[in-house]
Parts: sequence; structure tokens; C-alpha cells
Amino acid sequence: MKTHQIGGTAIVVVEGDITAMDVDVVVNAANADLVHGGGVAAAVADAGGPSITAESEAWVEEHGRVPFDGAAITTAGAMPSRFVVHVVGPVYVGGGHGEEERLRAAVLAALDAAGGLGSKSVALPAISTGIYGYPTAEATTVIVSAAADWARAHPDTLEEIRLVAFDPETATAFRLSLRTLGS
Ligand code: APR
Repeated sequence: MKTHQIGGTAIVVVEGDITAMDVDVVVNAANADLVHGGGVAAAVADAGGPSITAESEAWVEEHGRVPFDGAAITTAGAMPSRFVVHVVGPVYVGGGHGEEERLRAAVLAALDAAGGLGSKSVALPAISTGIYGYPTAEATTVIVSAAADWARAHPDTLEEIRLVAFDPETATAFRLSLRTLGS
């Protein structure tokens, strides 16, 4: 399954580079200090240009580190999107250290922030499955279930939640996870 409709919200799986996506909001898999060193974060900082790093530094200066259940917002610089919502997934250390709860919290925080910006479309990467080491199939299950719960709780807020996979394995994992939502 590639698309799952919940009320007015379509949850869609797309393979590609999140920085090129024509959506209102791109979600960044950030760290709490908003130092955009690798993975999605480096791609966002690169594609968006220097304003991403400058706005990230200013955000941390003003608010401190980004909490696990919070989000930082910057503009999207040179990307086609309007805003970047930076959330912090958990580092995976075996699965018994609150990773699932923290990943879920990151997804909910990202969608809350996107909804609060009045946006209609948001692109969400497979948070924590890169440098942070969360097993992909487990992470996509948590991400999909959190996104579906959020869509049910906020009907007609976002028109599209786009789950973005950078590789075919992650796309397959997102699709299988979507299937578990049933029809
Ligand atoms: N577009 C879409 N997905 C991408 C892109 C991209 N341009 N680049 C990487 N990905 C994928 C990865 O393949 C992985 O599936 O996003 C997923 C998340 O990987 P990471 O970006 O490494 O995020 P994470 O595991 O949460 O680690 C966060 O990495 O660079 C740092 O600053 C970041 O410290 C933080 C850590």
C-alpha cells in the first residue's frame, strides 16, 4: 500500500530526497543542538543554504536544546518548501530505553508544529533510522502509527503526510507499516 486516507489526510509513501520535495513543511531528523552534521540534517542545511544554520543557531540561543517532545522551526531557505520543522529522534540503544516513546513523541511534535504553521503538506523522513541506528522496520511501524494517530486526532488539518524514504528498503518498510493500519 502506498497511500492511506484518514479523513481529509492522505498518508503517502514517496522515495527520494526530502530536500527537493514540493511541500509546505520538511521535517528534519535533527539533534538537540541543531548542529546539522550528516544525513537529512546536512542535506537540509546544504540545500536550504546558510540561513538554515543561522536560524538554527539563533533558535538554540533563544530556547536552548530541542526537547525530545518538542520542535524547532526555521524557514526553508532555498528549498521548495516553506518551513523546516526540526525534531530529535532517539539514539537506538537496544530498544529498552524509551526509544519507541521518544520516536513517537518526535513524530507527534513534528506534526503539531506543521499543523500549527497552517500548512497542508508535510514531508517526514525515517527519523532515527540513519546515524541514530533505529532498526528500519521497527521505526517505520512507530512513525506510521504515530502519524495515523495524529491524523485521526486532527481531522482536516493536513491534506498530506508524506513519508519519505531515501532507499528502496525504507520505502518497502513504510509501505508494509501502512498496510498494518488496515483499510
Ligand atoms: N532525504 C530523505 N531521507 C534521507 C536523506 C535525504 N536527503 N538523507 C538521509 N535520509 C534518510 C536516511 O537514509 C535514514 O533512513 O533519513 C533517515 C534518517 O537518517 P539520519 O538523517 O541519519 O537521521 P537520524 O538517524 O535521526 O540521526 C540524526 O544525524 O546528522 C545527524 O544532525 C543529525 O545528529 C543528528 C543525527
